[in-house]
Amino acid sequence: MIGTGYVGLVTGACFAEVGNDVLCLDVDAAKIALLNAGSVPIHEPGLDAMIARNVAASRLRFTTDVDAAVAHGVLQFIAVGTPPDEDGSADMQYVLAAARSIGKRMTEFKIVVDKSTVPVGTADRVRDAIAAELAARKSTLPFAVVSNPEFLKEGAAVDDFMRPDRVVIGADDEQAIATMRAVYAPFQRSHERLLVMDVRSAELTKYAANAMLATRISFMNELANLADGLGADIEHVRQGIGSDPRIGYHFLYPGVGYGGSCFPKDVKALQHTATALGRPLQILGAVETVNDAQKERLVEKIVARLGEDLSGRAFALWGLAFKPDTDDMREAPSRQVIAALAARGARVVAYDPVAMDEAKRALGAVPHVAYAASPMAAVEGADALVVVTEWKEFRSPDFDAIRAKLKSPLLFDGRNLYDPEQVRAAGLEYFAIGRR
Ligand SMILES: NC(=O)c1ccc[n+]([C@@H]2O[C@H](COP(=O)([O-])OP(=O)(O)OC[C@H]3O[C@@H](n4cnc5c(N)ncnc54)[C@H](O)[C@@H]3O)[C@@H](O)[C@H]2O)c1
Repeated sequence: MIGTGYVGLVTGACFAEVGNDVLCLDVDAAKIALLNAGSVPIHEPGLDAMIARNVAASRLRFTTDVDAAVAHGVLQFIAVGTPPDEDGSADMQYVLAAARSIGKRMTEFKIVVDKSTVPVGTADRVRDAIAAELAARKSTLPFAVVSNPEFLKEGAAVDDFMRPDRVVIGADDEQAIATMRAVYAPFQRSHERLLVMDVRSAELTKYAANAMLATRISFMNELANLADGLGADIEHVRQGIGSDPRIGYHFLYPGVGYGGSCFPKDVKALQHTATALGRPLQILGAVETVNDAQKERLVEKIVARLGEDLSGRAFALWGLAFKPDTDDMREAPSRQVIAALAARGARVVAYDPVAMDEAKRALGAVPHVAYAASPMAAVEGADALVVVTEWKEFRSPDFDAIRAKLKSPLLFDGRNLYDPEQVRAAGLEYFAIGRR
């Protein structure tokens, strides 16, 4: 497993869990040292125990030794990062470096699997990179390149991997397809979930899935803003449309915009691909524009209530991670909310159940952010409470206690967590996204 991040570590652990012998490689020596010392560098429910179990059974090991990793298995999964380049395209340098390192060292048939999210055509580039390295050492060793995009969700990654909705395999090599079928057989005991297709379709499927989900979020955010203007309640509308099985409830929640390590970069990368082909995706362009504006929406509501100058004000902020059950701060909406409040002179006292260490790393030691030990400690003496991430522990707070601790009784809810009447009954002014 080349790359031991959110995807590589979860994939490696889950493969080990069903009996495979897995060696996880990373260039980040600190990460590998941490794993070898028994710690887990990310927060993912169920992952710590699974890793401990499989390390104890000697099925899962971690290394920085590239030679050992390439020698280890016929299957070489590439699960390295594909961050956005300056022009929005996916930066392929880590994927291609991994491919070259396999080509340099392989001494037997290999199946190289692109698990990272990569633009259409990447399998060809990976194949070329390996072939060039083999040619440089006058080798004619055979190899296959497979696309196997990953659909796991952070926060439920282990469950998603162990019980996938589908496993997409893009390949044209029969031996590779047979091996991939065997590797994924333990994860689809009740019925077949493997979708075998051509490589380009598999690569596009991953982007299409994330683009569709991002579209639903932006669509609902735009409707919520309209509901605000019309005096309608988006929560009723959400239930009114979600109950239609053709629409469904998933990803229909309005809020402070999507973030995380995938949607923003994948939407950008797909648009870059489409534009380069002379076929920019108009809907996707709007999805991104709406999302950028939505990240400002909560602060606009704060400014509308308290004025543009927020100097001397303190805000309690609940939730830093881009979504619940993860410590991932990449493109988290909280970062934009904090920056917008700080730009107007405010201070923020933040609380998050797991992401505070990661936030300290991501935000640096900035004077305008302090961290509280509990949700209620954050609220103490603040001018308002701002809810940014919908962690379970925020769902049923003691509104009377919040009212008593706040300097002014203001609650800005970026996730529509609460019943407006209940909040108002406690004497709080309630501002949410598209709610009456
Ligand atoms: N995070 C998710 O929820 C998710 C879900 C589906 C797909 N993906 C995709 O999977 C890929 C990985 O995402 P992630 O969130 O796990 O990234 P990550 O940043 O958490 O991990 C990537 C790891 O790869 C390592 N790495 C980079 N170059 C390497 C090399 N040459 N050899 C060995 N290790 C190397 C890095 O040090 C890092 O630890 C991305 O393409 C992403 O879009 C992510």
